[in-house]
Amino acid sequence: MQRLLVTGGAGFIGSNFVHYVLENTDDHVTVLDKLTYAGNRESLRGLPEDRFTFVEGDITDAALVDGLVAETDVVVHYAAESHNDNSLHDPRPFLDTNIIGTYTLIEAARKHSKRFHHISTDEVYGDLELDDPERFTEQTPYNPSSPYSSTKAGSDLLVRAWVRSFGLQATISNCSNNYGPYQHVEKFIPRQITNVIDGVRPKLYGKGENVRDWIHANDHSSAVLAIIAKGTIGETYLIGADGEKNNKDVVELILKHMGQSPDAYDHVVDRPGHDLRYAIDSTKLRDELGWEPKFSNFDAGIEDTIDWYRNNEQWWRPQKAATEAKYKEQGQ
Ligand code: NAD
Ligand code: DAU
Repeated sequence: MQRLLVTGGAGFIGSNFVHYVLENTDDHVTVLDKLTYAGNRESLRGLPEDRFTFVEGDITDAALVDGLVAETDVVVHYAAESHNDNSLHDPRPFLDTNIIGTYTLIEAARKHSKRFHHISTDEVYGDLELDDPERFTEQTPYNPSSPYSSTKAGSDLLVRAWVRSFGLQATISNCSNNYGPYQHVEKFIPRQITNVIDGVRPKLYGKGENVRDWIHANDHSSAVLAIIAKGTIGETYLIGADGEKNNKDVVELILKHMGQSPDAYDHVVDRPGHDLRYAIDSTKLRDELGWEPKFSNFDAGIEDTIDWYRNNEQWWRPQKAATEAKYKEQGQ
């Protein structure tokens, strides 16, 4: 039994990780989450009280963080401002949470000599051409494009520096695009599913040819647990499940599963600086730690995700109107 401190555990991937840990291990989980617009306490409803504690608070609050880190065995750091579009309109919270928040956590982990796992993104590597035979590896140079991805890149570099200069017992993972339940309706897949539920046509940025490398959130969780258990301190692991799809194909799949015509979507204004393609080579994680994805049928995974949003309208409905109003202001 380990005690895990999970930052950002009320967000999309963090809450999926908390459910996964409580279902698949005997670990105790404490979540530290600020409950920003992206955090939802409902995503953690009904968890076993003897194995789960929720603390509402900010990862930049050094005194709070110090006390919680002192009482844990492993810090698993998911908390972040995570949406590229938001970072283009108001970058400041991204600097505060992603940079200062990570700094605050690694200082506490260093002081109390605690194991630290840093959750990051493939976006730190920039993007690839559509016909590039290469994929991102742990050796790909950093080249982030947006305020979001540059703050994530900065946080990765802080963790690496703390490993080298202070002997922080840390690992880092950079994962591709996740899908699954509990994802905020601002993100691509839930936005389109909930639009169709509302009788609104899906919105594709630009031509829709941008490629994302989709992985189910549960596969991300199993990879993080493998790295915490067996990863080498100081190492970075890329997490991906060979799930490359362009956005147009994803929208058409959603429309098909929701009984709509495959061309019942609109093209809208493109995202400035929009990364063209992400693709992960996860050979290191598979060969060194023996990890494999289990949710490799994207078609079935999308059907399950559609069912989840159909059956959990009370979870997403409160955010939908404000999210769409914000997109409308931006012509998206
Ligand atoms: P999310 O926006 O759904 O959730 C973020 C959570 O962090 C929310 O619960 C929010 O309340 C909390 N939070 C934000 N600022 C905080 C602060 N200052 N203090 C405490 N809590 C705070 O994000 P997500 O999509 O679940 O992403 C989680 C992590 O995974 C991020 O680090 C992100 O960079 C990384 N990641 C995401 C993806 C993806 O596809 N979504 C892929 C790879 C990596
Ligand atoms: O690659 C990992 C990253 O994936 C994470 O680090 C980020 O936290 C996460 O938000 C995600 O970033 P993206 O920018 O790729 O995700 P998003 O869901 O915003 O968009 C996915 C793709 O869909 C992208 O090419 C933009 C496009 N898009 C998005 C929206 C919201 C549309 O075409 N229409 C839309 O309405």
